[in-house]
Amino acid sequence: MARINSNYLKLPGSYLFSGIAKKVQAYKEANPDADIIRLGIGDVTRPLTDSVLNALHDATDEMGKEETFKGYAPDLGYEFLRSAIAENDYAARGCDIAADEIFVSDGAKSDCGNIQEIFDVNNRIAVCDPVYPVYVDSNVMAGRTGEYVEATGKFKNVIYMPCTVENGFVPELPKEVPDMIYLCFPNNPTGEVITKDRLQVWVDYALKNKAVIFYDSAYEAYIRDENVPHSIYECDGARKCAIEFRSFSKTAGFTGLRLGYTVVPKDLEIDGVKLHSLWARRHGTKFNGAPYIVQRAGEAIYTDEGKREVRALVDYYMNNASVIYNGLKDAGYEVYGGKNAPYMWLRTPDDMLSWEFFDYLLGKAQVVGTPGVGFGPCGEHFFRLTAFGNADRTKEAVERIVKL
Ligand SMILES: Cc1ncc(COP(=O)(O)O)c(C=O)c1O
Repeated sequence: MARINSNYLKLPGSYLFSGIAKKVQAYKEANPDADIIRLGIGDVTRPLTDSVLNALHDATDEMGKEETFKGYAPDLGYEFLRSAIAENDYAARGCDIAADEIFVSDGAKSDCGNIQEIFDVNNRIAVCDPVYPVYVDSNVMAGRTGEYVEATGKFKNVIYMPCTVENGFVPELPKEVPDMIYLCFPNNPTGEVITKDRLQVWVDYALKNKAVIFYDSAYEAYIRDENVPHSIYECDGARKCAIEFRSFSKTAGFTGLRLGYTVVPKDLEIDGVKLHSLWARRHGTKFNGAPYIVQRAGEAIYTDEGKREVRALVDYYMNNASVIYNGLKDAGYEVYGGKNAPYMWLRTPDDMLSWEFFDYLLGKAQVVGTPGVGFGPCGEHFFRLTAFGNADRTKEAVERIVKL
């Protein structure tokens, strides 16, 4: 008799964004003429840049000729892309990462959800609260957590690290020692960042406790401040304790194209076993490579023209971020994030619950955001707005909110 993986039954309700989509749909059905502005889901809206489009067209033409046709891509990624990443994202920042320590994939979500597979099920995980839900849910599915406790909004056997106004949204070292530590900076959902000194404390802690850090830097392209690290490998010793995830989604508008990568340094070993070998084995078995044309498109963002275009894209969204940040701050809202990240994290007014504020904003201003509590209990009384919208619509959304 077949049995299901009953760990899935521990997952409460639907994924956060399906819940939001259902509420918005219901509102639209009741108010068919409502002009809704969506600043909720973290999806980009700007079209692909010229360099990326040209690379896509050229690579597509290659696929149409026998001499240049490409079949399966190498499991771990084409050399041309891995070298461009190593040179531009790492060597240029003084990080010692070789091309063959980079595993190209179809995006950071798959990788940060799948990475836990190469670790023992009895490892203890530590996550920030609030948190990008994928880290927790993928460990729930694997059976690495206990039951979900409705009253606390937490899973048993998970170390939650509060990220609050008081600690600047950077977690303190936990009292119980974890084996697997998930960190994400610039952070989704708070939009806050960690300084290099504070990240070094985490690296030292992981080395001392033989823990592994999963560092999600999907939003590194949005960093403006000099003292904010773009990669965990800017810290001493990180090659021995950290895995890093990157994405082309928010950097270059690839949410629909799909491309990302994971760095597993060869120095990272547990009991003499290289995690690099395990991840290569896993990747080779379960993944058949990102499409050739998409990898060529990814390579294009590292050309001079590609870099200029990416900067302009990021500037466009960061301009939205300052419109939201300054507009709401001037109107008396308590706002965080938004300086080195495309997310604003605001405290709900009048102590409203996050979902109450969601309904209020949708009902009164027809603006959609994301309730902070959907990212964890510490997100209660907070609300996330994204900078990924159209500039005029973003301005209008802020005007509508300010008028309330
Ligand atoms: C923190 C974080 N990591 C990873 C991802 C997923 O990125 P990708 O589109 O590459 O799967 C997201 C997307 O919203 C994210 O916010």
